[in-house]
Amino acid sequence: MLYPYLSVNEKGHLTIAGHDTVDLAERYGTALFVLNVDRLRENCRVYVNTMKECFGEDSMPLFASKSLSFTGIYRLVNECGMGTDIVSPGELYTALRAGFPMEKAFFHGNNKTDEDIDFAIRSGIGYFVVDNEDELVSLNRIAEKHGIKQKILLRIAPGIDPHTHKAIMTGSVDSKFGKAIATGQAKAITEYALSLENVELCGFHCHIGSQIFDCQPFCDAADSMLKFMADIKAQFGYEAKILNLGGGFGVRYVESHPSIDIAENIRLVANHVKTACERLSLAVPTVLMEPGRSIVADTTTTLYTVGSVKEIPGFRNFVSVDGGMADNPRYALYGSEYTVITASKAADPCDYLCTIAGRCCESGDLIQEDVMIAKPQRGDIVAVLTTGAYNYSMASNYNRLPRPAILLVGKGFEKLAVKRETYEDLCRLDLDF
Ligand code: LLP
Repeated sequence: MLYPYLSVNEKGHLTIAGHDTVDLAERYGTALFVLNVDRLRENCRVYVNTMKECFGEDSMPLFASKSLSFTGIYRLVNECGMGTDIVSPGELYTALRAGFPMEKAFFHGNNKTDEDIDFAIRSGIGYFVVDNEDELVSLNRIAEKHGIKQKILLRIAPGIDPHTHKAIMTGSVDSKFGKAIATGQAKAITEYALSLENVELCGFHCHIGSQIFDCQPFCDAADSMLKFMADIKAQFGYEAKILNLGGGFGVRYVESHPSIDIAENIRLVANHVKTACERLSLAVPTVLMEPGRSIVADTTTTLYTVGSVKEIPGFRNFVSVDGGMADNPRYALYGSEYTVITASKAADPCDYLCTIAGRCCESGDLIQEDVMIAKPQRGDIVAVLTTGAYNYSMASNYNRLPRPAILLVGKGFEKLAVKRETYEDLCRLDLDF
């Protein structure tokens, strides 16, 4: 099994933290996201403890809530000592509803409207991560209107290629995010920010990409950022207090992916940062990170019910499930790999080669191709592992499919955190005319 919290019980059913998945599917319906809170807490703990150990008490991980956003998740990560990264007023609203301490919230995004800026300031957001001059102009004006000096970081493109999927690579010069060091624009926006009355520049941010297994690109990014910070210090006499290195550590979706020791990687990055600071005569800044995937991905399993098994001689076998790209668009978008198990026959041999198809009305609606699972039939439960990140948060109502529920489980614990959408929910905003 990919994770220690998965097992097979005497009925031959897959269990998650001791909970029988067939039983869960029966009681809560499918498609269903089952999130293991013990695993979530453990993932948070590793980041929180290691970052404090390496960078001191002020350092903390910020949960990148674009990877999974619902009210309860902000409560859970807050209890674990994390801050949060939000990228939209919707995420901000959800965090507020959860009572998340706003001073630990960082507001990202390459296009924050004036309304968004106003809303975030009124909410007492800790920091804006400013993307561009247009935003800075508005932010300075709106902060003045509220009579405050808003703390900010500037988003910088360090020009690092982390060799990941191009759709999730963000730190290069040719990117819609931030200002590049290489073009001189990073320096220009820094000078501008320092000249403004109503913003307080606290440091710099970069994010190089996602699903990165190697620690080297993070060290390269840190090098590039620290060299930039040293140049800024030399030219403007300004020494940044915060360096936010973004998110991006990879997650093991299938056996062939490496398993990554997050604590060890943070320590390696920390040593690298400290050496570079010494070399550049910089005080070691408070380092922040923004993990999303590596906090939530491996906490969650999606359960589906099989509706049909279609064998096309000479071609392939399709196993159709009661979900698909509407709850998990990642295979359709990125060709992402997943581990699939026939949860109701988890003790049977995995000798059936098939494609797991969704129920949306288009051929690209596949969850995974060419997987070996125990042969299912209509009514069997299929589990897709590692669906905690960028599944629910990217889910849609395509084909008017209601979004699945999210069930929290742990040792001896079970609680519904998000209800399944109803057909009524789907029509809630439609007006009669
Ligand atoms: N910080 C910033 C500024 C980001 O843009 C992201 C992710 C993160 C942190 C968190 O990165 P993580 O630790 O989760 O890798 N939808 C894609 C992933 C998009 C990532 C966007 N930014 C997927 O499903 O793979």
